[in-house]
Amino acid sequence: MSSERARITIFDTTLRDGEQSPGCSMNQQEKLRLAHQLDRLGVDVIEAGFPIASDGDFESVKAIAEVVRRPIIAGLARACRPDIERAWEALRQAERPRIHVFLATSDIHLQYKLRMTREQCLAQAREAIELAKSFCDDVEFSPEDATRTDPDFLCRVLNAVVEAGATTLNIPDTVGYTVPTEFAELITRIRRHVHGIENVTISAHCHNDLGMAVANALAAVSAGARQVECTINGIGERAGNASLEEIVMAMRVRPDRFPYETGIASEQIFAASQTLSEITGVPVQPNKAITGRNAFAHEAGIHQDGVLKNPLTYEIMTPKSVGVPDSKLVLGKHSGRHALSMRCEQLGYQFDRRVLDDVYRRFVRLADKIKHVEDHHLLELIRDTHKPSMSATPLIEPIVPAHEAVVNAPAHEPEKPVALPNSNAFGLPLPVHSESHHEQTQQEDYLWGV
Ligand code: KIV
Ligand code: ZN
Repeated sequence: MSSERARITIFDTTLRDGEQSPGCSMNQQEKLRLAHQLDRLGVDVIEAGFPIASDGDFESVKAIAEVVRRPIIAGLARACRPDIERAWEALRQAERPRIHVFLATSDIHLQYKLRMTREQCLAQAREAIELAKSFCDDVEFSPEDATRTDPDFLCRVLNAVVEAGATTLNIPDTVGYTVPTEFAELITRIRRHVHGIENVTISAHCHNDLGMAVANALAAVSAGARQVECTINGIGERAGNASLEEIVMAMRVRPDRFPYETGIASEQIFAASQTLSEITGVPVQPNKAITGRNAFAHEAGIHQDGVLKNPLTYEIMTPKSVGVPDSKLVLGKHSGRHALSMRCEQLGYQFDRRVLDDVYRRFVRLADKIKHVEDHHLLELIRDTHKPSMSATPLIEPIVPAHEAVVNAPAHEPEKPVALPNSNAFGLPLPVHSESHHEQTQQEDYLWGV
């Protein structure tokens, strides 16, 4: 089945368009570090920067081109000689260099930004591609603001640059204006009206101003685009670019709808996200799909209970499949007994139903006051529940090994230790293998459709 799936080129522009987002600029060393991680992630193309923009960016692109050898290394250039020559200077040592030339084509950009006519735009695009082609076989062209360009004129420009030797036609939704159906229609139109399109790769470059960047990119792929331009954590100008991890995992989780292959090692996604966040100091939004800290966290009791019984109930991919260390149950006021008892077990305490009810009642009261009940709160609460005679001042003590844990017996019975059969050589509890845990390991690879 996998050989029938079309291969999608993943063009990562975190180091170029991503870097353009406020607070995300990176120095050479940081760019190199991220480029190595992108290489491990398996991206096909790394757009390393915009060499004419600054000496620092030039040096970064050059350094990446010299040491990161597997992926194609792209450098951005406006459609003019100084930019293209500078880009080539930075890229020439690359194993697989690509010059990426862009020129706006919408009337609004031509009239107000570039102050040129459509005919001038057409001529400049053609000349720029011919020049880039004189340096490098692999040349990409982007008609900036393509989605607000008159489609007939857009096709004229694309015909001209294909004739001049462009090997990839990237269609940018520069201002995040399009919607999936419209973008798919545009790709279809380009496929019908550009001569020689079958020898050229169509690419989608989507911005997220209306929150549809990923949906638009996927719609373009369904209509025949075979490259997507995207960034880690979706960083980029204004509302950002299409997020790499969301596109890739949509294809992995829903191959019935998106029957495509990528070269991405998905278990490297989380590391890439964390590396970027660490370098830029920009935290990942907690509810960010795939890479946010809550992406695999469950708080509602019904959800926690379901996930513990079988993760498939509320998780459509394993945390492991994207490199997230573990699924995290957040203990809060919506949590149920099942999640609470599981966490107690992980902390070395196992209670029978009656005692658990007691702990649970206190837990809910506490959770009403504080948002998240952390392990140290729980330990304090357990101690308070079961050693009422001890100091009224709560003290946090080291975890009591489970085999020594004492539960409070009813007044008429003597206190008795809870016997947990499994402890290690140091007397510390081994992980408790509940039925649900067993199910979980059996379901290890429950990524839907893979
Ligand atoms: O959004 C855009 O139009 C761009 C181009 C330079 C490809 O980033
Ligand atoms: Zn862009």
